[in-house]
Amino acid sequence: MLSKRDNELLTRVGPGTPMGQLMRRYWHPIAGSAELETSPFRTKEVRLMGEDLVLYRDRSGRLGLIDRWCSHRRVNLAYGVVEEDGLRCQYHGWKFDQAGTCIEQPFEETVHPDGRFKEKCGVAGYQVQELAGLIFAYMGPQPVPLLPRWEPLAWDNVVRDIAVTELPCNWLQCQENSVDPTHSEWLHGYFGSYVRTLPGRGTEPAPNQLPRIGRRHQKIGFDVFDYGIIKRRVQEGGTEEDEDWAHGHPILFPHILLVGDQFQATMQFRVPIDDTHTLHVSQYIFRPAPGTEAPAQTSVPVRWVTLFDESGSWVVDYTFNQDYMAWSQQGPIAERHREKLGEGDKGIILYRRLLRQQLDAVLAGRDPMNTFRDPEKNRMIALPLEKVKRGISGRPQAYVPGESGYSVDAPQIEATYATWDKVGSGTP
Ligand code: FES
Ligand SMILES: [Fe+2]
Repeated sequence: MLSKRDNELLTRVGPGTPMGQLMRRYWHPIAGSAELETSPFRTKEVRLMGEDLVLYRDRSGRLGLIDRWCSHRRVNLAYGVVEEDGLRCQYHGWKFDQAGTCIEQPFEETVHPDGRFKEKCGVAGYQVQELAGLIFAYMGPQPVPLLPRWEPLAWDNVVRDIAVTELPCNWLQCQENSVDPTHSEWLHGYFGSYVRTLPGRGTEPAPNQLPRIGRRHQKIGFDVFDYGIIKRRVQEGGTEEDEDWAHGHPILFPHILLVGDQFQATMQFRVPIDDTHTLHVSQYIFRPAPGTEAPAQTSVPVRWVTLFDESGSWVVDYTFNQDYMAWSQQGPIAERHREKLGEGDKGIILYRRLLRQQLDAVLAGRDPMNTFRDPEKNRMIALPLEKVKRGISGRPQAYVPGESGYSVDAPQIEATYATWDKVGSGTP
């Protein structure tokens, strides 16, 4: 449990808040590059940590992320005209560059050719960079840290897929889920199996049959490592020799869950839109079998994950949708001052402590965890990915230490890609 005050401290991310200062020290994915290609106005409305912004790519290919409201009469610049060197307001033609500097004021300049009015009319502008088909933004102080090239984001010869959704809750309850292993046997096991027996799901429950519980956790453990927290577990039938305990799963500070292995990984970013909304960005990365080429991708597809069915109820038929429902059903900001934490929550307690430590570091003027400034180290940040080879088919694969150990062949990968459209209809 946290005090009401500490809950406020850890969840509020608006400008000037302590947690807002910490979260502004990180790069956040705000869009897929493909979204700008298909957007009707070549812009995207973005809200990040309580600030309304507009993202655009100018005609020379540069990205801009600036205040969404024109400094003249406060019109929405998402309907502005994308030009060679900036975004021109659709209302009276003022133009802003990537830094938010006002570079043209047509009527003002006609009347006062030597006037300096536009120097006072700039808007906020933030750094943006692209990596792995995602556009990342940085809203913090100078000097700007490097955009982390986490291993799966830096892999080449891969196929990528992005799934995005917007959740009506604070980002912290999404991320706390990553250090909460025991929910899997209940939310995804028991509840997930219960859902399949509900009316209209096509599965008739046997009389008096209770839903199936997932493999129960026998033991959980957590350690802080260089980039976040390693989560370990022993489930029913398992031992401490198993990779799930011996190797564990990394969670990257402050808001990334990484699941996967050396050839198939998922990164989930929990981006604070504001105090009560989260942009959930998942990237799926598939590597081909050794010696084979991944199918060429001209751009990384982005799909929007539906949260509600036609009746307005939460979709709960898929694992990730079950998570989205549960996090959101904790309320816009979970009432942590009323919770009762037990043994199953020690990962959450550790993670909150880590957040406080990193917050203290920033308030003391130091770089927090996962600030990268050495380009050499940032070429590819190696991660302790699981060594168990599960394969794209979900079947366990043999792992050969010291070798790539792949045993999934190209046709299998193709077959997996062929199912994506179907899977994309609701599965994040
Ligand atoms: S409102 Fe943007 S130029 Fe007038
Ligand atoms: Fe989950």
